[in-house]
Amino acid sequence: MTMSFTLNNGVRIPALGFGVFQTPPEETVAAVETALRVGYRHIDTAAAYGNERQVGEALHRSGMAREDVFVETKVWVSDYGYDKTLHAFDKATGKLGVDVLDLLILHQPLPAEFGLVVDAYRALETLLADGRVRAIGVSNFLPDHLDRLLAASSVVPAVNQVEIHPYFRNTELLEKHAALGILSQAWSPIGGITFYPGWGGQDRRSTLDDPVLRRIGDAHGRTPAQVMLRWHMQQGRQAIPKSVTPARIAENLDVFDFTLSDADLAAVDVLDTGVRGGPDPATITLAAWAREIPEA
Ligand SMILES: NC(=O)c1ccc[n+]([C@@H]2O[C@H](COP(=O)([O-])OP(=O)(O)OC[C@H]3O[C@@H](n4cnc5c(N)ncnc54)[C@H](OP(=O)(O)O)[C@@H]3O)[C@@H](O)[C@H]2O)c1
Repeated sequence: MTMSFTLNNGVRIPALGFGVFQTPPEETVAAVETALRVGYRHIDTAAAYGNERQVGEALHRSGMAREDVFVETKVWVSDYGYDKTLHAFDKATGKLGVDVLDLLILHQPLPAEFGLVVDAYRALETLLADGRVRAIGVSNFLPDHLDRLLAASSVVPAVNQVEIHPYFRNTELLEKHAALGILSQAWSPIGGITFYPGWGGQDRRSTLDDPVLRRIGDAHGRTPAQVMLRWHMQQGRQAIPKSVTPARIAENLDVFDFTLSDADLAAVDVLDTGVRGGPDPATITLAAWAREIPEA
């Protein structure tokens, strides 16, 4: 099983990364330090998460060589626009304490204000050409957003980071990615959005309680979370599970020594409901989602 994927520009990314969405700043240093200690080599943060500085602190404290950790962050919509996005790079690298980002992506599409998206992406292209980022990409883009971006730019995004878990496989988008050579990065890879405290309705189901995932896990001596992470990897998707719990951080990386059968993979595939847990990317507007990203 591959330990890494190769992006469409030849840059390699670990097959599994570590996410820090909703990780409070005061818990981020410890979580990222734990992740690096147990072997994660890719951290996914975002300007909007408010914890880039703490991710940087953990990278620094780890004493690891810069080139040994793949650092990814995201530009928030309030910073879209050519000059604003170039400045967003300076803000992010300042907080993270790095000179070069391994992957910088646009966090959300703004379908009704797509000119801003194109200007922001042009800034990413400049940063790429100048060697200040090693790869660029997008997040939460629907197929038509990718078409519109490609019509107005020259670099095919290396990744599209989108909601993908057994209850929402996002199949139409995955076919688009395959056709374009874009790596699918799965957010909520173990279905976090199906069980985050305070999200969703009363009748929601948690992937962690799914009997099929439990049955497959039991057969391999693994947990439902490990089954889901293995399912992503074996189908060629990069996953970025989040946890602040040391035992879970380790558990989620401990997936490189077992293999799901084709029947197991197919049994997970059919759990798809076709219903996303997160917001519909078609509805994201600057007015509703604007939020100032601090300078430091
Ligand atoms: N681009 C976007 O718009 C976007 C949106 C959402 C997420 N993301 C990225 O994707 C990452 C992961 O997504 P996510 O945080 O939404 O969901 P997730 O990784 O699927 O699930 C995280 C949740 O699962 C719990 N958990 C983790 N490992 C577990 C295990 N082995 N057993 C049981 N529970 C476990 C965590 O709890 P504890 O922390 O309490 O252990 C947390 O509540 C984020 O951190 C972020 O980097 C991106």
